[in-house]
Amino acid sequence: MKIFFVIFAILACFSCHSMQSDLETYIVQVESPESQISTQPSRMDLESWYKSFMPKTIETASSDEKPQLIYSYHNVIIGFAARLSAKQVKEMEKKPGFIFAWPQRILSLHTTHSPSFLELQQNVGLWRDDNYGEGVIIGLFDTGITPDHPSFSDEGMPPPPAKWKGKCDSNFTGKCNNKLIGAKTYPLNSESPKDEAGHGTHTSSTAAGNFVKGANVYGNAKGTAVGIAPLAHLAMYKVCDNDCLESAILAGMDEAIDDGVDIMSLSLGGGSRPFYYDVIALGAYSAAKRGILVSCSAGNGGPSQSTISNEAPWILTVGASTIDRELKATVMLGNQKLFEGESVFSPKVPDSSFYPLIDPSLNATHIGSRFREPGTLSDPKFKDKIVVCMAGGYVSTIGKGQVVKDAGGVGMILVSIPEYGFSKFADPHVLPALYITFNDGMEILQYINSTSEPTARISFHGTIIGDKEAPVVAAFSSRGPSYASPGILKPDIIGPGNNILAAWHTSVDYEKHTKSAFNIIQGTSMSCSHLSGVAALLKSSHRNWSPSAIKSAIMTTANTLNLANVPILDERLLPADIFAIGAGHVNPLRANDPGLIYDIPIEDYLPYLCGLNYTNQQVGSIVKHKVDCNKVKHIPEAQLNYPSFSITLGDISQTYTRTVTNVGEAKSSYTVEIDSPPGVTVNVKPSTLKFSKLDQKLKYQVTFTRRDDSTSSGIAQGFLKWSCKKYSVRSPIAVVLQPTIGF
Ligand SMILES: *[C@@H]1O[C@H](CO)[C@@H](O)[C@H](O)[C@H]1NC(C)=O
Ligand SMILES: *[C@@H]1O[C@H](CO)[C@@H](O)[C@H](O)[C@H]1NC(C)=O
Ligand SMILES: *[C@@H]1O[C@H](CO)[C@@H](O)[C@H](O)[C@H]1NC(C)=O
Ligand SMILES: *[C@@H]1O[C@H](CO)[C@@H](O)[C@H](O)[C@H]1NC(C)=O
Repeated sequence: MKIFFVIFAILACFSCHSMQSDLETYIVQVESPESQISTQPSRMDLESWYKSFMPKTIETASSDEKPQLIYSYHNVIIGFAARLSAKQVKEMEKKPGFIFAWPQRILSLHTTHSPSFLELQQNVGLWRDDNYGEGVIIGLFDTGITPDHPSFSDEGMPPPPAKWKGKCDSNFTGKCNNKLIGAKTYPLNSESPKDEAGHGTHTSSTAAGNFVKGANVYGNAKGTAVGIAPLAHLAMYKVCDNDCLESAILAGMDEAIDDGVDIMSLSLGGGSRPFYYDVIALGAYSAAKRGILVSCSAGNGGPSQSTISNEAPWILTVGASTIDRELKATVMLGNQKLFEGESVFSPKVPDSSFYPLIDPSLNATHIGSRFREPGTLSDPKFKDKIVVCMAGGYVSTIGKGQVVKDAGGVGMILVSIPEYGFSKFADPHVLPALYITFNDGMEILQYINSTSEPTARISFHGTIIGDKEAPVVAAFSSRGPSYASPGILKPDIIGPGNNILAAWHTSVDYEKHTKSAFNIIQGTSMSCSHLSGVAALLKSSHRNWSPSAIKSAIMTTANTLNLANVPILDERLLPADIFAIGAGHVNPLRANDPGLIYDIPIEDYLPYLCGLNYTNQQVGSIVKHKVDCNKVKHIPEAQLNYPSFSITLGDISQTYTRTVTNVGEAKSSYTVEIDSPPGVTVNVKPSTLKFSKLDQKLKYQVTFTRRDDSTSSGIAQGFLKWSCKKYSVRSPIAVVLQPTIGF
């Protein structure tokens, strides 16, 4: 019901916009007024400079709406957001100082499945040192927050650091405390930072929720729910309702920079774009310049290649994996065959109850009827039957279940899509139901077709911990290579994003209404907020580390093996490739003490951006000052001091330099270990790095050469690793081999 309402509300909103006026919200980038005024522009200067671009006359008698400047930015871009007509933008283009304008995009939250809810303890014991993220401020850009949820209690929390300048919106005062130290709202139709969607409450509590004892629903596993950095402070910038507007995201990031956040966490995004008109890349650059680490979800476009978003090299781009927890449910067929699936809803059903099983498509005109759209199951023949439905389509899983329930069905088997392989999702349901793989689903359909009286029984087994295959890359997790910058390996890292329990804005448990509602949802949104928490832990214990140092520590110490000590698998249960996992799965304990780091001073991005062949104006709009790329050294992407490598290799060798900084033991000697990608020779000089003091920087060169005998093309992967007694510092290598002429 709720879900349907959301869909209609969005449609209604689109149509009302187009009816009311021909104005759209544009993001407008202009040159810095520096070129006019010689001193650093003040906010007032900027605002009047921006106003000078706005249409002077109110000539639009036909339209109800006047052009209007909505947001004046001063950190994230030199520019503003304004309601304008296409014609007014054309006029604006003629003014000196104008660079570029585009109608704002609507970005989406990076959860996949419809919200589910529930129970149990966050499995984070292994995450923690004696470090709880004290003194660090995480800014979340999301759907708002539920301030009275016990996850946001400030018990045991120190007051915010003195540098904090943020605040709570006027009608949220009294809601903030030493945990939730800031809350602001940006969507125009939103009155307060209160979360009406659940997503922001979930991501906030994952990153830095306080301890909540006894979180449980349906009597399932009881435990303590807690965020990754329980002593970190939270600031909510509500930039989304159910969708996120670019103008609002920029406005939130603009203020968060002034407010003094240490980490920005953005579990949202759109498709890949060049960085000069990707608002998150633009905002994140300004944040990085101020020492703020920006952690973003990689997107839920997997498992297809090149689906990654939020891939600028100054962003930590986070993919998603499973955790070792299943919410197990099974279905047994009349022929005694048993299939395993997952479900959040685990009602107590009598174990002996076999029911008739029905595949609605068998008698329907087309296969689409298995998608279970509203009204498609009014037929009385579904009464007291278990119905097979396909995942996907427009209707959420909970919505499909409702349709089956309304038709008198007693259960539902939800069959995954083929691309999702062995991935299963624990969803909420309104009737006994479970999610099974596509292959299992096909077997069940064959069984139905093969017998005159098919029957099945659904049973629930609750929470099972200890899946040795975990972490497995989630099917939905977006994959590289990056479009915007193929020479930077993305994603950077993967972290927990499947079946993640965290706080929720409302209890969806019909039986028991409780203030401390919890919910399980999936998406790179969830893995992003985990990594934001990890970054807060590192920031707390290493105050002077730059964002790129924190990122390097996370990447070079990542796990590449799963709990069973074999290489991490993907949704097909095949070894996951480098464009699915990047550096691997986050290992927070090791990240806290990485030995060496690959730092990237902010100035290094300039030769990198010029090397992308952007125009001076385009580079200028990212770095926010005038740029002449003709006077700047250009570097290829792979020359950026990144902790990983992504190379496109033809017949000519390529050599890159890296600089590592010693943050381990003063006197230490590292030797290199190379695992060359098949068909490629990797040569590192020197092969030993001897450090005599802390913070010492040493360089090495790495040369990639195609092997004489190699005619293969495609993707090859390997790594190089610097090791000493105590540390091992690993950089993954992706090589795209260009086809060569064979003999
Ligand atoms: C918040 O304040 C605005 C005006 O500042 C008011 O219109 C709105 O009703 C208030 N919202 C709530 C939930 O109190
Ligand atoms: C399909 O329709 C036929 C004939 O109307 C009927 O005999 C059969 O039971 C139906 N099968 C299902 C699975 O509903
Ligand atoms: C059902 O079985 C028949 C033959 O036994 C076969 O021709 C048909 O394709 C099957 N249908 C489905 C949907 O599997
Ligand atoms: C930029 O242009 C140079 C010269 O044409 C070319 O060699 C290089 O590959 C280009 N870089 C990118 C990232 O397209």
